[in-house]
Amino acid sequence: MSLRKRTIRDRYDDLGGRVYDMRYTEEQRLKYESMLTEVRVRPDDIVLDNGCGTGLLFEYVTAYMVGLDVSIKLLSKARDRAKDVVQLVNGDSENLPFRPRVFHSVMSFTVLQNALSPARMLREMDSARHGDGVLVVSTLKKSLSKQEFIELFIKSNLKIKKVVDTENINDWMIISE
Ligand SMILES: C[S@@+](CC[C@H](N)C(=O)[O-])C[C@H]1O[C@@H](n2cnc3c(N)ncnc32)[C@H](O)[C@@H]1O
Repeated sequence: MSLRKRTIRDRYDDLGGRVYDMRYTEEQRLKYESMLTEVRVRPDDIVLDNGCGTGLLFEYVTAYMVGLDVSIKLLSKARDRAKDVVQLVNGDSENLPFRPRVFHSVMSFTVLQNALSPARMLREMDSARHGDGVLVVSTLKKSLSKQEFIELFIKSNLKIKKVVDTENINDWMIISE
């Protein structure tokens, strides 16, 4: 693992799940709620939460879920939150350890800004989803401009269904189908 990735992982490990939740539960809730009204998830779908952190998203999605994250500390908090329809994986969002096309939807909230190669991370998520699956991706507004975020999708040949840009939310968010 590269030095930069280790540094990011250690930063989240040091923060820990309890503090993460205290600081970010409300902020992330706004993102989930504004995106998930736009996406159809069926209860028997299999959904990947790429960079799941403490698993805050699990409470908003009714489906079989796989939560992947690089931080063991955040995953151990996610374990407390995970129901029996959730599996957790310690891994790298830019090198997904899954066969192609196994997920109905692939979601990733506020993770892309950490990627060494955002294009690679998008590619990995794209190949993990079914041909007709949905990608839901958000990234911090301060990490890149809205236009740069959109261009990342265009250059990756990903069709954009909707760009969500809400003033009181810190992320740009894109749904790709
Ligand atoms: C801002 S948090 C968002 C967590 C979660 N998606 C949420 O909505 O609360 C960023 C997450 O990305 C994870 N992360 C950063 N780089 C990663 C990588 N290369 N592979 C997997 N997870 C990564 C961090 O450990 C952290 O859990």
